[in-house]
Amino acid sequence: MRQSENAPSATPKGASSDMVSSSHSKRLKYLSLGVLVLQTTSVVLTMRYSRTLKEDGPRYLASSAVVSAEVIKIIVCTLIVFLENNLSLQAMNHLLKEEIVSRPLETLKLAIPAGIYTLQNNLLYVALSNLDAVTYQVTYQLKILTTALFSVSLLGRRLKLYQWLSLLLLMAGVTSVQWPTESEGDSEQKILSASTQFVGLMAVLMACISSGFAGVYFEKILKETKQSVWVRNIQLSLFGFVFGTVGMFVYDGGRVAQSGIFQGYNVITCMVVVLQAFGGLVVAVVIKYADNILKGFATSLSIIVSTLISYFLLEDFQPSGVFFLGAVLVIAATFMYSYERKPVSGSAVKI
Ligand code: C5P
Repeated sequence: MRQSENAPSATPKGASSDMVSSSHSKRLKYLSLGVLVLQTTSVVLTMRYSRTLKEDGPRYLASSAVVSAEVIKIIVCTLIVFLENNLSLQAMNHLLKEEIVSRPLETLKLAIPAGIYTLQNNLLYVALSNLDAVTYQVTYQLKILTTALFSVSLLGRRLKLYQWLSLLLLMAGVTSVQWPTESEGDSEQKILSASTQFVGLMAVLMACISSGFAGVYFEKILKETKQSVWVRNIQLSLFGFVFGTVGMFVYDGGRVAQSGIFQGYNVITCMVVVLQAFGGLVVAVVIKYADNILKGFATSLSIIVSTLISYFLLEDFQPSGVFFLGAVLVIAATFMYSYERKPVSGSAVKI
């Protein structure tokens, strides 16, 4: 596997400190991947629940939730930079000024993934308002394919034959999951649900393209430059906040004028917003210590968890045999894609 820029060089002199920091990086890598599995599962289920909950009064605006998550990310990242600078306000201000204000071109680079992520974050609410949690999550796995394609074209990464094969397997799996099931019920409802599914599906497919591109673009920026992941995330979220706010006023301006930005917020909404923000930060750490492909592996694992929960607790999903076959193919493809042969000598650092 490719060695991260932040990985220490394996010189005999610094070997022991290299080993310490490499095992630290490894721990962070698996910890962040594990947390991502939990976060992905909980955000999907909570978001789906929050969008289908029937309540009096207006439902919360998805565009407002996206903006609130950006504000939380800016606050959390600033706090982390503050901690990293030994709680010195002066040092933190100096660093942020130096990295963000004095280098406008470096900062501007983040406008591209920020704009795309803002669009994507809004699309995901559209998707989850129109699809059940499991169908959404399995279809969203197509982002592994788009991530692979962008990794090859933007990062110059080379894929092995079995990895390309696993991508074909993935597409077969996602198609099976989407295969319409013959179910009983009145035809009007069937037509309605078919058009709803189509809207949801289009939203997920667009989100797959944007996820692949923005993820790889962010990985490129993170690994080709020296700025800390937290500073990079502040830059990303600053643009995300601006784009998200513009989007909110363009699409929901009328409703905002009528009932305010935080209309319909309740405890569940706050949970979704916090989980969304937390997820963004975990994704950033995963991209730094692992990469976008392992990120896909982690989210595939969360399919298994949310399938079980959706089936047993939410009861909003009746899986068919074809669905199970598709889900197995998707998961098998993900494992196959992420498979790495261990180096013969045990000395290579894998970060
Ligand atoms: O589905 P995907 O993995 O592409 O989702 C990435 C999510 O993480 C998006 O919600 C994006 O806004 C967020 N993100 C972030 N900070 C990063 C990278 C992604 O908040 N550095």
